Amino acid sequence: MASTAVAADKPSMVKLAKYDGPVRKMSKILRDKCIMADPLLGKKLHERLAAQKAAGKIESEQWYQNPLKWLALTGIANPYKTVFNELRIIYENGEAFLEQFVKYKRQVFFGVGTGDTEIGLLYEVCDKIPPATLNIYAIDVQKFYLKLFAQQLLILSERLRHKHHAKSELWFQGYNYLFEDVKRRQLRLHPDFGCQMGDIGIALGNVIGNFENQHEILSQFNRLNTQIVILGVHLAREPREMDYVFKLYRDNVIFNEFARDAYLRAGGDPKRKTEWVIDKKTNAIRAFAGDTELFYSKKYDLDDLDAAMSELGFGKVEFYIHEQSAICIFKRSDHSLVPRGLDV
Ligand SMILES: C[S@@+](CC[C@H](N)C(=O)[O-])C[C@H]1O[C@@H](n2cnc3c(N)ncnc32)[C@H](O)[C@@H]1O
Repeated sequence: MASTAVAADKPSMVKLAKYDGPVRKMSKILRDKCIMADPLLGKKLHERLAAQKAAGKIESEQWYQNPLKWLALTGIANPYKTVFNELRIIYENGEAFLEQFVKYKRQVFFGVGTGDTEIGLLYEVCDKIPPATLNIYAIDVQKFYLKLFAQQLLILSERLRHKHHAKSELWFQGYNYLFEDVKRRQLRLHPDFGCQMGDIGIALGNVIGNFENQHEILSQFNRLNTQIVILGVHLAREPREMDYVFKLYRDNVIFNEFARDAYLRAGGDPKRKTEWVIDKKTNAIRAFAGDTELFYSKKYDLDDLDAAMSELGFGKVEFYIHEQSAICIFKRSDHSLVPRGLDV
């Protein structure tokens, strides 16, 4: 097992493909070695929740503190069938993703959630890729999801090792951090990896749509010097579609419970009913309890997303659509390895 103790600012990657130990030990390794946690995260989230409640808008970092609620939603009751749609795109267009993965060998996943789509993408790539080392990073505010992802990666690495490419290796490091708090230097982990080849930044399942400040969330790819960006987003192609989507949220009992969770934890009034609205200005679905916004989910016009990414120096490679979902691949267009605003 090639790993060393985890220090606050100097994480160790876990070489998953080389691990041969028993399951009990494996879970200990998953817990201890491959997830680096922000020691202040719990306190930060607590303080931020109080501030957000006072300001009347609860942000997505707070919604997943009861991780099983989201697990139930993604598995059986997500209005958008997000995972199904994105997996279909991935399976039908595997070559496009493979091309990127062969060239850029560091994948940084932003917000893995249950990890179904992320792992689907990695299976697709790993089944086809020539023997290679993949360096996988995942950032998520919820540690449970990172553990789940690490577990899924272990299964994938076994498959790689025994069935396909004995020479392939998976390395993994999870970051239990807020996106904005991960530093570029924390991703520069292992001397073998170098940092010249650039990264792929991947945010599937409309992760970016939960941020009202789009510039801020999309700038994370610049800050971390990402060369290729792969975004899974929800679409709203016409007003009628928004009306239909709106009902899927409003009438979904499990989604209503999910949306209220952080509000109630913050001491919100349980008697206040949830009101769902369509925000035509930002093309989003919002939920409120009284004056407090509980939930925000932007639906995309792909031309607008293209324009927003272009402002940040990324050009369109390809957009793939299935039903109300799209996966969009962008490439840094200014050929610069060190974009403006790089956070080292
Ligand atoms: C929509 S879910 C993930 C969807 C997943 N990628 C998929 O395709 O099924 C959003 C994820 O982002 C994480 N998250 C939300 N806001 C975050 C933030 N500010 N920093 C870090 N993680 C965040 C949540 O914990 C959750 O796992």
